[in-house]
Amino acid sequence: MGQINREIIEEVRAAANIVDVVGSSISLRKRGKNYLGLCPFHGEKEPSFTVSDEKQIFHCFGCGASGSVFDFLMRSRNLSFAEAVKELAKRFSISLPQRQETGQAKRMRELAERLRHVNELAAGYFNQVLLDKGTGEMALAYLQSRGMGPEVIQDFQLGYAPQSWDGLKRFLLSRKVDLKTAVQAGLLVKKSERDCYDRFRHRLMFPIKDMRGRTVAFGGRALDEENPPKYLNSPETPIFHKGRTLYGLATAREACRRHKEALVVEGYFDLLALYNQGIQQVVAPLGTALTLHHVRLLSRLAPQAVLVFDGDQPGMRAAMRSLELFLREKLPARLLALPEGMDPDDFLAREGREPFALLLEEARPLMEIFLEQSIAEYDGSVEGRLKVVRQVTPMLKLLDSRVTQEGYLRMLDQRLGVSEEVLWAELGLDRTSRVVTARGPKPDRATRIPAWEEEIVRILVHYPNWIPLLEKSSALDNFQVNPWVEVAGLLIKHYQEGGNLALSGLLMDLQDDDLKNVISGWSLESSPWREEAAHARLREYLEGIGSRRRQLQDELKRLREEIRAAERSQDQSRIAELLAELQAKKAALLAKEANDKANLSRGEMV
Ligand code: UTP
Ligand code: MN
Repeated sequence: MGQINREIIEEVRAAANIVDVVGSSISLRKRGKNYLGLCPFHGEKEPSFTVSDEKQIFHCFGCGASGSVFDFLMRSRNLSFAEAVKELAKRFSISLPQRQETGQAKRMRELAERLRHVNELAAGYFNQVLLDKGTGEMALAYLQSRGMGPEVIQDFQLGYAPQSWDGLKRFLLSRKVDLKTAVQAGLLVKKSERDCYDRFRHRLMFPIKDMRGRTVAFGGRALDEENPPKYLNSPETPIFHKGRTLYGLATAREACRRHKEALVVEGYFDLLALYNQGIQQVVAPLGTALTLHHVRLLSRLAPQAVLVFDGDQPGMRAAMRSLELFLREKLPARLLALPEGMDPDDFLAREGREPFALLLEEARPLMEIFLEQSIAEYDGSVEGRLKVVRQVTPMLKLLDSRVTQEGYLRMLDQRLGVSEEVLWAELGLDRTSRVVTARGPKPDRATRIPAWEEEIVRILVHYPNWIPLLEKSSALDNFQVNPWVEVAGLLIKHYQEGGNLALSGLLMDLQDDDLKNVISGWSLESSPWREEAAHARLREYLEGIGSRRRQLQDELKRLREEIRAAERSQDQSRIAELLAELQAKKAALLAKEANDKANLSRGEMV
């Protein structure tokens, strides 16, 4: 099923009352305006799972799970968004328009279904053979010798392709499979017009499954040295592209969500070894370098990735090559570098789980390691310094957070002796006007001073009638801190569409779980401000932005450009002069902001 149009989604959302839907799977009790029950997403004894009839959202004050009726179904039943809509449409008798499928699309879909079907049959067959007392004995013993017991075998549906040219072929014939399909799936190899034979022989078989657990291909490990390659994968087929698939997607999905991270290892056995030790948020590419598609898949699994690589030269180089992909996809990535010559499987076998967990905790951002390695190459010469700067700036430019950018520039400043200001100039960036992106708000919410953008959003969640004020003022153009830029835009969009704020719709548009949690939490709290105080605060924010602060920032920008020019003409005294002026202006801006904040926080809190 492809795209479902927005109107249908709205129709389903209006029909599927969240209290009924949640109530049909857990028991709810009315408490005030809301309903309360035991959270189905984490173990709890005291109910903290809240469902709001009025707002049509759920929110767990225990684990932070939150969202719309669709989110509830996606999470509790592990469905995709489209599947959740379809399911609810069925339950509430809303007919989805049957999309006109072109002949070509229909043929492709049917082919994909046939290919998946034959792969499923083969996976079942290989698994049966592995567990067969006679034929599978040796392979089973091999797995045992590598620490893999019945549970792993079952969870991954591991199998054994027997030492035979037609074991699978005969099995498929007995199941009335058209052998042409099995050839297309890469399970059989064509010998002549009329004849074909098993591709995988005397190999340990790893079914490769898609996100939904459907087998799309196989990896097979040779069980003797005489028949290379050590690992043989299914060829590329209409349903299998090595560069777009990761091993372990189906088994890792839920664990990644729980741990909010996805580990990436290089090999099948590495993944199984980690899984065996209870570290299940892990996937592996299939013998290729990471691609942009892989990184996109990872970002669907979790808000951050950890590369677990061999600490040797090629391992490090591979990790560094992937840095750019992670930056482009804005997926924070850390690197766990293992001792040289060890893969995760070796490491766990030798050292055990605890030392691995420690290394995992200590894994450092890929960018940091990249900078350190670049600095390590610095030979002390002026040219050397320039070389390092030129090497690292393209990566630094890709960072979308001013805060991290600043941190790294400071590090370069200290280690290379190139001033931060000069580095900003080299980046060609204006530091103060950069958009700051954080993935969800910081955790220490009690002590933190929220950005003014955040306060505006919070006020508007409580008083949606004032959304038009934001829309009319020019404040939105001055929003700098993400995710609030995005959320403010969504507030306006949903307000315009609904005439009031349909919060469950807004939550649906948000990707980040932490952010969803914060916003739905706000909508269920009682407003921290009385109405007049909130209104005054909002007006002050909306009018304050755009005046003095903006002016100061423009001046800073002009100064930076001048510094860049002075840098080019090597005019040291002019640079010094400009830097001093810049410092003074910055101090003024900071003082102004602190002053504004202090004034505003006197606006009484309830
Ligand atoms: P390794 O050679 O490091 O093997 O390949 P491994 O994962 O440690 O396997 P064991 O422990 O010896 O059984 C790493 C990964 O590279 C791919 C596979 O995905 C493998 O898991 N590879 C390796 C191939 O695709 N083909 C090969 O011939 C070898
Ligand atoms: Mn290994």
